[in-house]
Amino acid sequence: MLMKELKNFIMQKNIVDTAKQAMQRAIEHELDLKSLFPLSATSSATFHIADFGCSIGPTTFMSVQNIIEAVNHNNNQASTTKLPLEFQVSFNDQTNNDFNTLFRSLPAHRHDNYFAAGVPGSFYGRLFPTSSLHLGSISSSLHWISRVPGELTAAGRRDSIQCTGLDEDVARAYSGQFTRDMEAFFDARAEELVSGGLLAISALCLPAGAVLAQTGLEEKLKSFYLPMYYPQAEELEASITKKRCFSIRKLVKMAPPSPEKSQKLIQTSASQIRAVSEAIIKQHFKTITPDSVDLIFERLKEKLAENMHAITSPTTLHHLEVFILAKRL
Ligand SMILES: C[S@@+](CC[C@H](N)C(=O)[O-])C[C@H]1O[C@@H](n2cnc3c(N)ncnc32)[C@H](O)[C@@H]1O
Repeated sequence: MLMKELKNFIMQKNIVDTAKQAMQRAIEHELDLKSLFPLSATSSATFHIADFGCSIGPTTFMSVQNIIEAVNHNNNQASTTKLPLEFQVSFNDQTNNDFNTLFRSLPAHRHDNYFAAGVPGSFYGRLFPTSSLHLGSISSSLHWISRVPGELTAAGRRDSIQCTGLDEDVARAYSGQFTRDMEAFFDARAEELVSGGLLAISALCLPAGAVLAQTGLEEKLKSFYLPMYYPQAEELEASITKKRCFSIRKLVKMAPPSPEKSQKLIQTSASQIRAVSEAIIKQHFKTITPDSVDLIFERLKEKLAENMHAITSPTTLHHLEVFILAKRL
């Protein structure tokens, strides 16, 4: 499991790097500041950005910076008067996220028109007032579905700790939960985004026809499920457009990181994987001691070194890194 998480972490860092250009171009092209702020030629205009599933940084800060640069670029290109923009940036994650660590590491030298706030709660429900967001961003988080499908836990069915895709019933249950969760996610964002607002989505997806078990190493832990599901890119697209509230303006499938880049990322990753998975492990294995948790993450470092070749091998089937820019209609 941890090896899989490790591979995913490498993808998360990479996805923000590689999505940068596609995202900036798409935002610059699609954003219509004049129609979002028709009356704000001289008074200040607050551009509200939300990052959903921000974790503790630093990737979220990179994403937000990329977005702000794109919005400023768009504003500077305007043929008429430049808007006096200020940025309200809302960082969202689950209530048990370590927001203190997040805010302690906010970029110290951010511009003085960049205001940060934390918004705790599940992104599968409403988090912001109606028509109050101009741009939402979500990176490497949509595979965290809201729950392990109820029918599996009720029936005691298991495939692995997550959906490997090898057992058809389990895969169907996960896919169903993913579809319901995506509907909840896009319904909530459709309410929160202003008309003409944008949603930038970076996600890890499976290549068409592939199942998760083909993409890396799997270990069986008999009583531990993770609410994770990697969709095929087409499943995600269908969820976005289903209710006709959003249109997809850009979709880019990006190349996985090079073996050299993966190796570099691996070296800094163990502590960040701990940040994401420690709370889940503690919640499930309620009596686990702090020493045992430390031991798990020490073992992770060792396994990391042992399995470097499998993670970085060009023959391993890789996830697709997908960037999508959707526009609220
Ligand atoms: C893999 S991290 C991604 C962090 C960051 N966005 C990045 O690109 O590196 C996934 C984050 O999504 C958060 N998350 C998962 N489900 C969530 C939910 N329902 N609502 C809000 N945040 C959620 C997790 O707590 C975790 O911090």
